[in-house]
This record gives sequence, structure tokens and C-alpha cells, in this order.
Amino acid sequence: MKYEPSNLEVLLTKLAFKFYEKAVYKEYADRLPITGHESVLDFGSGMGTVAYYVSKRLIQGNLVCLDISSKWLEACRKNLRRCGHVSFMHGDIYSLPLKDESFDLIYCHFVLHDVADSELVKIIPVMAGLLKPKGTLAIREPLRDTGKIKVIQNFIEQNGFEKKDSRVTDVPHMNTTLESVYIKS
Ligand SMILES: C[S@@+](CC[C@H](N)C(=O)[O-])C[C@H]1O[C@@H](n2cnc3c(N)ncnc32)[C@H](O)[C@@H]1O
Repeated sequence: MKYEPSNLEVLLTKLAFKFYEKAVYKEYADRLPITGHESVLDFGSGMGTVAYYVSKRLIQGNLVCLDISSKWLEACRKNLRRCGHVSFMHGDIYSLPLKDESFDLIYCHFVLHDVADSELVKIIPVMAGLLKPKGTLAIREPLRDTGKIKVIQNFIEQNGFEKKDSRVTDVPHMNTTLESVYIKS
């Protein structure tokens, strides 16, 4: 579903990121399996809340921030303007010029729960194709809608991923979340 935020929503997200949510995103970025040389895709980067910290961990690798919303991607460009190793892509993952088996890691932070099942069924196989063999798919989603979480898990597992790790975390202002890490088998 294409969705553009209001200017107020962008402003409030920027303020929240600046003043009290940084630690939330940094902690998640620090837990991602990154050594510094990976090719990484942030699917649904928003204003780059997680990407900001991921880019700092990449010594030589590269990070692509992808979002379907031009407004969020513009905010992301601004937020990450001083960060290296980053590029930005606007649009649908399945119609962008991304190379198969080119990413070591794809992460989705608070994105998939909002994506319609009819889209997920197309998006997750594309993610599988974009990952290198043994590549990692990491997700963090709110746990409040357990039905949707199950749908997401099923789609992922039906597309050749094996679950490596899963944990429930309590996140300030986001309530309980599920973090899972899958390996492309
Ligand atoms: C709740 S925000 C999360 C943003 C960011 N990951 C974070 O945690 O701060 C969800 C983001 O996913 C993006 N999004 C939703 N559906 C998408 C799709 N099909 N392809 C790419 N981005 C999408 C939205 O535009 C929005 O920026």
C-alpha cells in the first residue's frame, strides 16, 4: 500500500528520533549481524532511524535504503547526509534494478506488519532472491497482532528461510516486539 506521511508526522518522528528514541534504534542496529563489509538492504527505511546506526557499522560495505514513500525517503536522505556507504532507492522492491544474490543482509524494522498479504506474497520471494546464499533476513515487528505475525512467519518460512533466532523485546513507545533472524537455506 502506497502511503505518504503528513508533514506533521515526519516532524514528530524526527523529534522523537532526535530526543528520546535513538537508543531504541541503535540497540537494534547493534544486534544485526554486521562485521563491517556487508552489502545491506533496509527495506522500508522510513527516515533512516535504524539505517543511521547501520551505516556507522559499515567500514567498507554498502547500505541501500529503500522506501515506497518519496517523503520518507527524502527525510532519510537528509538524516543520513553525513553518513558514508549509503544509497537510496524509491519504489517497489520488485520493480527496482536490484541484482539477485547481491545482499548479505536485508532487515525490515516495523514494516511488514503494515504490508497487505497480497503484497507480502510478492515481496518475500523477491527478498529471498536478492540475498546471497546463506544471507540473513532480520525483522522486528510489533507483537500486538499475533495473526499477522503468523502470516509473516509462514510467508518467510515458505520461501526457503530457516529461523536462526527469535526474541521478544519490550521497546519504549512501541510496546512488545518480536525480533527474528532467518537464514536463506
Ligand atoms: C512504520 S515505518 C518504519 C520506518 C523505519 N523502518 C523505522 O523503523 O523507523 C514503515 C515504513 O515502511 C515503508 N513501506 C511500507 N510498505 C512498503 C513497501 N511495500 N516497500 C517499501 N517500503 C514500504 C513506509 O513508507 C514507511 O516508511
